[in-house]
Amino acid sequence: MPLRRSKVLVKWIFENQHKFQTVRCCSSSLRYKEQLEETSAAPELVAPAPTPNAKPRPDLTPEISFKYDDLRVSLAAPYQLQPKPEVEELGFGRYFTDHMLKIYYHRALGGWQKPEIMPFENLSIHPAAKALHYAVQLFEGLKAYRGRDDKIRLFRPELNMERMNLAAQRSGLPMFDGDELVKCISRLVQIDQEWVPHSETSTLYIRPTLIGVDPTFGIQAPDSALLFAVLSPVSAYYKKSRDGAVSIFADPNVVRAFPGGAGNRKVGSNYGPTIEATSRAEKLGHQQVLWLFGPNHELTEVGAMNIFIVYINEHGDKQLATPPLNGLILPGVTRRSILELASQWEDLTVKEEVITMNNLIELNKQGRLLEMFGAGTAVVISPISRVGFLDMDVNIPTMKQPAPVYQRVKDTLLAIQYGHIEHPYARIIS
Ligand SMILES: Cc1ncc(COP(=O)(O)O)c(C=O)c1O
Repeated sequence: MPLRRSKVLVKWIFENQHKFQTVRCCSSSLRYKEQLEETSAAPELVAPAPTPNAKPRPDLTPEISFKYDDLRVSLAAPYQLQPKPEVEELGFGRYFTDHMLKIYYHRALGGWQKPEIMPFENLSIHPAAKALHYAVQLFEGLKAYRGRDDKIRLFRPELNMERMNLAAQRSGLPMFDGDELVKCISRLVQIDQEWVPHSETSTLYIRPTLIGVDPTFGIQAPDSALLFAVLSPVSAYYKKSRDGAVSIFADPNVVRAFPGGAGNRKVGSNYGPTIEATSRAEKLGHQQVLWLFGPNHELTEVGAMNIFIVYINEHGDKQLATPPLNGLILPGVTRRSILELASQWEDLTVKEEVITMNNLIELNKQGRLLEMFGAGTAVVISPISRVGFLDMDVNIPTMKQPAPVYQRVKDTLLAIQYGHIEHPYARIIS
């Protein structure tokens, strides 16, 4: 066929192809057939429709959890390896290592599939995936520390696993055996161990994430999910002001969490809506938001950290206090560790108690408020020297204490994390 005629024919077919379709997509009589076709043409993430009486595939792990023993590893080729940045350039979560962990869950295939470590790659995800629309997702944050003995340690990873499973339950995502995930993550860190900074001011941040990926708009428990973990070498999280502390802004018009909500779970939907308030605080010269709740302006958290104060109590003793876990507060691993460690220090009373803005202002006026600090994995400890509230500036003498509690807490945590002292909180993985 001469070239010109064939070009005309191709153009005609292109323009008229819709006329060849005998079935329109909304035809209800053919719905079942279409569903089958859609399923077979669906992308990789979608589980095939279950075939009645089909035998389970022999390589499936049980519904209850994936298993470390099933882990498959494919290493990056030399050309896929990324250059490692200098410690000074790290920032927070800007660079990623060479490998990642992926574990799919497909209810139709019996549940959790085999874990896989593979070269770092972008995800391919259906545009209707529930994680993208209804935040059916959760994440965690823990770190791998390179100790002075060159050994790599994790800090209480079992607590992150517990928190992950609680968040999964809240969002209808599949739960799993936390020990198995810690083993898979430990293997990932071992493979990328040269990415764990050779420095005690930097660490390798581990971000396990679980997302609902099935491609349907219904607000229901997802039938398919993806658990992945990526690693990022990090240094400082927050900018500090000149005195080494941060200034925070307490805006009584915004809340981070509410009773019956999911403020006590590490789900993405708690974080996106904090951005506007944080930007407003920054415009007013503060670094973070102090999250208040209720008519008494109770302190709940600061930024993405748990909040602590140190003050002289009515008996004249030094008291370390943090608000109780009342459903509005994320049960921080650092928070719990501080409470456990400091309650063994005889010169300090440790209490979980409600703290209101009025309490804080009164204690400060009476000269009894000594310190205020935030605590979390990303920052460890972040001393606070100023709180903006209504038209006031509450200046807190955190940086003026001769032997501040925040520093003692920080030194103790870092000593455990970097192996200066042997402690059951630290788990050597390499
Ligand atoms: C809202 C919030 N509070 C507190 C924390 C501190 O928790 P952790 O000590 O487990 O890092 C975090 C960090 O994960 C957080 O996002």
